[in-house]
Amino acid sequence: MKKYFFVSTLLILSFSCKYVAKKEAGTLSANPFSYTIHKKITCSNGAIVSAHPLASMVGAAILKQGGNAFDAAIATQLALAVVYPGAGNIGGGGFIVARTAEGTNIAIDYREKAPGKASRDMYLDSAGNAVLDKSQNGHLAAGVPGTVAGLFATLPYAKLPFKQLIQPAIELAQNGFAITKAEAASLNTIQEDLKALNTQANAFQKQTPWKEGDTLLQKDLALTLTRIRDKGKKGFYEGETARLIVEEMKRANGIISLEDLKNYDAAKRNAVVFNYKDYQVISMPLPSSGGIILQQCLKMIEDKNIGAMGFHSAAAIQLMIEAERRSYADRAEYMGDTDFVKVPVKKLTSDAYAKERMKDYIPGKAGNSQQTKAGVIGKESEETTHLSIIDKWGNMVAVTTTLNGGYGSRTVVGGAGFFLNNEMDDFSVKPGVPNMYGALGTEANAIQPGKRMLSSMTPTLVLKNNQPFMVVGTPGGTTIPTSVFQSILNIIEFGLNAEDAVYKPKFHHQWMPDVVYVEKDFSQPVIDSLKAMGYTIEQRGQIGRTELIKIQKGKADSAYTFEAIADKRGDDDADGY
Ligand code: GLY
Repeated sequence: MKKYFFVSTLLILSFSCKYVAKKEAGTLSANPFSYTIHKKITCSNGAIVSAHPLASMVGAAILKQGGNAFDAAIATQLALAVVYPGAGNIGGGGFIVARTAEGTNIAIDYREKAPGKASRDMYLDSAGNAVLDKSQNGHLAAGVPGTVAGLFATLPYAKLPFKQLIQPAIELAQNGFAITKAEAASLNTIQEDLKALNTQANAFQKQTPWKEGDTLLQKDLALTLTRIRDKGKKGFYEGETARLIVEEMKRANGIISLEDLKNYDAAKRNAVVFNYKDYQVISMPLPSSGGIILQQCLKMIEDKNIGAMGFHSAAAIQLMIEAERRSYADRAEYMGDTDFVKVPVKKLTSDAYAKERMKDYIPGKAGNSQQTKAGVIGKESEETTHLSIIDKWGNMVAVTTTLNGGYGSRTVVGGAGFFLNNEMDDFSVKPGVPNMYGALGTEANAIQPGKRMLSSMTPTLVLKNNQPFMVVGTPGGTTIPTSVFQSILNIIEFGLNAEDAVYKPKFHHQWMPDVVYVEKDFSQPVIDSLKAMGYTIEQRGQIGRTELIKIQKGKADSAYTFEAIADKRGDDDADGY
């Protein structure tokens, strides 16, 4: 019975959800060895969308047990750390943007920090060349993990005991679960790296190829989660887990110390809050560039009646690209951790500045990133992950969390069973040298001990008439803010339904390189029109995995109606009741 703790909970609760686009008929499967993926759900008591069906199932079970959106956010992140090891994590970091039912905005920063022994030029060789292998792979790539501190910083807003929230994750790690086809394929791609970057055998290594339905057992991770359950934050940042992390560091020239771990804490920030027409947008501030980019992009187009141009018209896309060009130029020049550097946030986000930046925008003619510098102020494997949650009281929670690249540094902490991030690569390792996302940076994002590296994660909430309207976010490195920008406009300007807003092909521009990336199924006539304007267009793999909840009916109509959409681009799953 204990084995299926959350499973049994699901079985005894009645469902009021209408499942659409199920893989198979029947109620939600409750067995971690046989489960289905649900891409869309309409319900009124609580909804959750995450990158994995078992994680969404855990979140929904917690909501049904009386937990609120914060409880579900904690439990789901812990479950993702087990069932989605490529990006779900306790060895990485993230951000939570939330709004309580009473209307308080919350932004919690649990981004990783540079270790105390980190230094500005630590990834340069003796000739001054950047050695990106070191910032991206193995022990030296890891920043001090923030996720567990973030979970405990979220706990005061939750209702249920932490032990109840972590138990499903412990059981999934201890008893195992069946991996999906995508997970099998993904684990097979990292086998060589796992050999090269680890000093001890781990649960993710296998002599024969992984295949769909194989059981992933994570006994060491179960022990680590149990220590966190029993000792709280100290169960990770001190004692046995901390000792195991530091021993792992010592085996391969890593620099995270016991002191770094003990001193780590999450930080409360002031959310980025702004109006776009009739809507209020709430998003993540620095050290994520996401909220500021989103604000800049929306403000640069606000007076241009983009809705009338039409969804995926060349004119609308061009306008959005030009806003993105200007905003990402500012990202590279000015943005970094405000605990360490002065960033002119007020100016960057002022309406007057947005107008000024678009003065040289010419409809029908491509801009040029060599000429568009930052404003005068005074490739990624993109394996981040996002979850969106809302509960029946109206608490809205958006969480984006990451190891940076897929499986982070691909180093597993020996005896502790979890991947360490490779977030150090999100610093500007050397001015002018692009990181794994092609992003450039300057002094503002240079490495300093204890500093947080600049992020693009954009967990976002949208209100209409001060009432919940949308919870949205996505993984995707530097493509995150532009995907959120598109998802919001798709609904509020172009009138798409929530499903189309997520599923329709996406595009991305980030100033440098001066290229517009489009997904493979992007309309060829639109590509041709953009080329005729002077844009360089490149096809690329999928952009992001957007998890979106649209609030169809507000509480004023007696009860909420939520529509939750899980992106078709992965195993993403919508659940709720
Ligand atoms: N590691 C991706 C980001 O934080 O933007």
